[in-house]
Amino acid sequence: MRRTRPLSDSLYLLTLLALGAATLVPFPVRAATYPTSEPGIPVTDAVVKAKCGGCHQADAAGNLSRISWIRTTPEGWEEALKRMVRLNGLTVTPEEARHIVQYLATYHGLAPEEARPVSYFVEKRLVDETVPAELQPTCNTCHAVAQPMSWRRPKEEWTQLIKTHLGYFPVAEATAFYRPPMPPDPSKPNPDKREPWEIAVDYLSKTYPLHTPEWEAFRTSIRQPKLEGRWLVSAYKAGAGPYYGEMTISSVPGSADMVATHTTLTAVSGSSLVFDGKAIVYAGYAWRGRSTGSASPKEVREVMMLSRDGQSAQGRWLWGGYQEFGFEVKMVRAPLGPALQGLNTASIRAGSEATVDLYGANLPAAKPTDLDFGAGVTVTQIVSSTPSRLTARLKVDASAQTGPRDLAAFGAVLPSALAVYQHVDYIKVNPGWGLSRLGGTIGPKGFVQFEAVAYANGPDNKPNTADDVLLGPVPAKWSMKEFYAIYGDDDTKFVGNIDPSSGLFSPAGEGPDPERKDMRNNYGDVWIVATVDGPDGKALTGQSYLVVTVPQYLRFDQPEVNP
Ligand code: HEC
Ligand code: HEC
Repeated sequence: MRRTRPLSDSLYLLTLLALGAATLVPFPVRAATYPTSEPGIPVTDAVVKAKCGGCHQADAAGNLSRISWIRTTPEGWEEALKRMVRLNGLTVTPEEARHIVQYLATYHGLAPEEARPVSYFVEKRLVDETVPAELQPTCNTCHAVAQPMSWRRPKEEWTQLIKTHLGYFPVAEATAFYRPPMPPDPSKPNPDKREPWEIAVDYLSKTYPLHTPEWEAFRTSIRQPKLEGRWLVSAYKAGAGPYYGEMTISSVPGSADMVATHTTLTAVSGSSLVFDGKAIVYAGYAWRGRSTGSASPKEVREVMMLSRDGQSAQGRWLWGGYQEFGFEVKMVRAPLGPALQGLNTASIRAGSEATVDLYGANLPAAKPTDLDFGAGVTVTQIVSSTPSRLTARLKVDASAQTGPRDLAAFGAVLPSALAVYQHVDYIKVNPGWGLSRLGGTIGPKGFVQFEAVAYANGPDNKPNTADDVLLGPVPAKWSMKEFYAIYGDDDTKFVGNIDPSSGLFSPAGEGPDPERKDMRNNYGDVWIVATVDGPDGKALTGQSYLVVTVPQYLRFDQPEVNP
């Protein structure tokens, strides 16, 4: 693959491909493409052999070309399958597609240790990615670098992927995969003679080969977990705080891999939510569910990872036009004895008294001495108690040291249950930077929920150091401030609104705005500012940088993996 083809020829090739797709002429994926650098993973499933084997020919060992040399997430397989339907002429029923994705995501999937570093990608989190120098900017200009990092292939297949990109997305030739014809500084030639795509392929085949120690250790213990029963759920929603509740998991008659779920969640402010849904667990650990809610949110998608011992799960339940809203969720199997989930508050000030709620399961009737919050905190009274919630009165010594406290009660321990502080030293706005998308007419609006979180400086009495103590979310007054990027910046007038009490940013509509100078659209960048009443009437402020941009026209989402 030398650089012999000018861009116009690539476009010609794309047209040919498009014509080929339009007439849907299936052509075999040649046996000559079997990689030799690593052994394949034989396909044993009858449906996969029947539906894919016509084009992806089997070798003597039962390896299907391409498919046996690729491993990826459920989302990755769903994406590959959709392209087979869209461009290559595959026909499948929804049931067959679900079976195929389940089989491939399980036996040609990732080990949990491989999936965890890129879990933010399937959980649809907006993160500042760490991009290896070898892939920057070659592989992260069009999609997240987590896209390639979610796949495992031998060198031949990584190389094939480059060719697939050049065929389908020929712009990659000029913008990413090859060095520009003229180096930026001709006096400093690059000592590395490899093209960017070669550097990427060398790195990917070394770092993300088909066979890895993690996967070899994992593949022999893959099984469908037995999840039925009662689970305790702890959730956190930015802007709303913690929720506690339970999920009952039951089997679905006639289905080996799907479970039915019923969840109740209560916000510490008192409001309740009920969800009913279904979930599929891929590869024994990758939970993908979908639930309908009794109130807002009306529907959530659940993306979680089960622990190896099958006793807990963690992930994100998401919703919104850009999946920008979510619960951070942790679930544990309900034990037979007492279990502690969390408190309604994250912190309490030294020298004060407060009433706190403890959420859990199977909580027995308690006396004040049954709860131990550690040095400087005394439980003076148990105000009320039910098996799932206990309310206690706490008194904190004026001299109590700033720092987190574990709660020990009923033979269980809740680590860092409560922070004690002498005073709030500063606040931070989460997220530290945000991305909102204009919308409302052609596409959905992309909102951002901000929240203000308080901190104490900790023993070194310096802000923003490792020993700082997180004191939890605090109510704030919200406003917007210009981020001076261009002369005469008028962004705050056009980008949208921040709700002064809830911290929810709602973007303006998309499209050219006749009210705005030069009919520009409503994009821009601003500071989002939170103001909190600090100690001694002194206001504390924190801010976050917000970019408001155009709608996302291309979606890389594979929502079908959730039932
Ligand atoms: C009608 C022919 C046809 C059928 C049926 C077919 N494929 Fe493909 N497949 C192709 C062709 C052609 C390519 C190479 C071009 C491409 O990647 O789109 C390909 C490539 C692939 C790749 C490589 C993609 C990559 O990321 O490099 C995967 C994975 C794949 N197919 C999976 C499947 C699975 C799974 C099935 C069965 C459910 C299937 N294919 C059925 C024709 C087919
Ligand atoms: C010019 C834009 C562009 C660049 C640059 C790019 N990609 Fe992609 N890539 C895409 C698009 C678009 C898709 C989605 C394909 C689809 O939906 O079928 C994709 C999909 C993928 C997939 C999923 C596999 C599949 O069969 O769909 C992988 C893996 C991937 N890219 C890896 C890479 C790597 C590695 C690099 C760097 C060497 C890279 N990409 C650079 C546009 C790009």
